[in-house]
Amino acid sequence: MKLFLDTANLEEIRAIKRWGVLSGCTTNPSLLAKEGKDWEVQMKEVCAEVDGDVSLETTESTADAIFEQGMRLASVAPNAVVKVVMTPEGLEAGSRLVAEGVPINVTLCFSPAQAILAAEAGARYVSPFLGRIDDIGADGLYVLEEICSIFEVQGYETDVLAASLRHPMHVIEAARLGADVATMPYDVFTKLVKHPLTDLGLEKFDSDWKKLQKELKEGAK
Ligand code: G3P
Repeated sequence: MKLFLDTANLEEIRAIKRWGVLSGCTTNPSLLAKEGKDWEVQMKEVCAEVDGDVSLETTESTADAIFEQGMRLASVAPNAVVKVVMTPEGLEAGSRLVAEGVPINVTLCFSPAQAILAAEAGARYVSPFLGRIDDIGADGLYVLEEICSIFEVQGYETDVLAASLRHPMHVIEAARLGADVATMPYDVFTKLVKHPLTDLGLEKFDSDWKKLQKELKEGAK
């Protein structure tokens, strides 16, 4: 399972990129708004910083306007993937973009039925939003499990991109269920690396090592 950052923040991208585990990035209008800068400049900078696909979301509402905007977004960078929302208009525009050779990510997906539509439209990615399903008292992981097993049975080539991940267990379960990609905010990424036993173990190694150095230095006197 590939790991993507769900952000439009360059510092966050640079920090995780240094770990050598970052395979792509997803953005959305809310994440770009958070940066508060010229969104076109920001999109370009994000695409330049990431070695891998970067999803850039359309904001128009008619199929023609989404298509036109999608074509413009696709020209931002060679690694741009156009996000379209799971609506009839988004699907129509998305299918037209695919026909033009533009890779798309169908977003705001909350059900297996929607995921099937995205796959049939030839999307590169479909993004089920786990956390937001959990937020309304349903089970995001169950929806993801259904989507992954349907895609397996059908042999769909569309990648399942688990999104709206809120904590490490979402990431672990997404991997177990067979998601192709997990996109997560910076704080979830940093939680993946942490374990109290790692910290305690490091503390012990460090103090034992320092003790030995001290003994050797004293022995040499
Ligand atoms: O990029 C889409 C998605 O991951 C949003 O997550 O936390 O706003 O539901 P969230």
